[in-house]
Amino acid sequence: MVNTQELETVARGMVAKGKGILAADESMGTIKRRFDSIKIESNEDNRRAYREMLFTTKGIEESISGVILFDETLRTKASDGTPFAQLLSGKGIMPGIKVDKGPVDIPNFPGEVVTEGLDGLRARLKEYKELGAKFAKWRAVISIGDGIPTYTCLELNAEALARYAALCQEAGIVPIVEPEVLLDGSHTIERAHEVTEHTLKVTFTQLFLQRVYLEGMILKPSMVVPGKDSPKKANVEEVAERTIRCLKRTVPAAVPGIAFLSGGQSAESATEHLNAMNAMGPLPWEVTFSYARALQDPALKAWKGDPGNIGAAQKIFYHRAKCNSAARSGSYNKQMEAAA
Ligand code: 13P
Repeated sequence: MVNTQELETVARGMVAKGKGILAADESMGTIKRRFDSIKIESNEDNRRAYREMLFTTKGIEESISGVILFDETLRTKASDGTPFAQLLSGKGIMPGIKVDKGPVDIPNFPGEVVTEGLDGLRARLKEYKELGAKFAKWRAVISIGDGIPTYTCLELNAEALARYAALCQEAGIVPIVEPEVLLDGSHTIERAHEVTEHTLKVTFTQLFLQRVYLEGMILKPSMVVPGKDSPKKANVEEVAERTIRCLKRTVPAAVPGIAFLSGGQSAESATEHLNAMNAMGPLPWEVTFSYARALQDPALKAWKGDPGNIGAAQKIFYHRAKCNSAARSGSYNKQMEAAA
């Protein structure tokens, strides 16, 4: 029996006013790429030191409701021996867990992928719950290109997202449902809008067919933006208007919150876009952030793997979290950046 009350309470807490989610669930391959960019090795000690720098930043609980962790990180202990999950809970921040196993090619559909990780998921979720996870994440990846995405790709990914979401709810874990439409490519914003709308329609149809409790889930979509190589850029208002229009057409008001991924946008753009959307309110759902790069990149660059830089990196991380917290109510402005 699904405990709908527990799910709803956690989901609401994840998108509480002024708060959003830190995605710190980089897989081994992704964290290696991030560390390559600052020329440090991705080993267990460096991964612990980096995550400890983020999680021990004073005051982040003012802006961060939950942190998505990778399997290794959920099992890691801080240097004083406190497990990260406990360290976060102690600050009133909910630990979450990435449970998908990443994308693989779809046979007969060149250029398209489906996310794996359903086999054995029921048992894994049971263990994650015991380790303290309150919510989970599964990311589906949709590419825009010549003749893609196909309906088959959207359908396969939506089926897996809904299977995952139903299994999470059975285990008393709130699912973050993440269908990411990639920024890569030279497509227009109109095309991004069309693909995002179609993706969300197919996703919510599957969530309905598999009886997922909408009040006990969070949607993590991409914003509607032109491809990163598109010759035609879009201004902040256009991104905000198109994204909200797309979501209003596809996301039931029963869903408590929408927490965006940043997808390779710059840290400031991701904040500005979120701010512009909230300034368009009132909206049917809470609209917040679940950023990885847009919250972490400036701090990662300041840290560079040097213990002497921890204070400076934490200041920058705290500032980004604060700016995004302000964007939750449409009260962010450029002066906040200058002041820092
Ligand atoms: P970005 O904000 O860097 O896109 O990452 C969010 C995320 O969790 C991707 O799955």
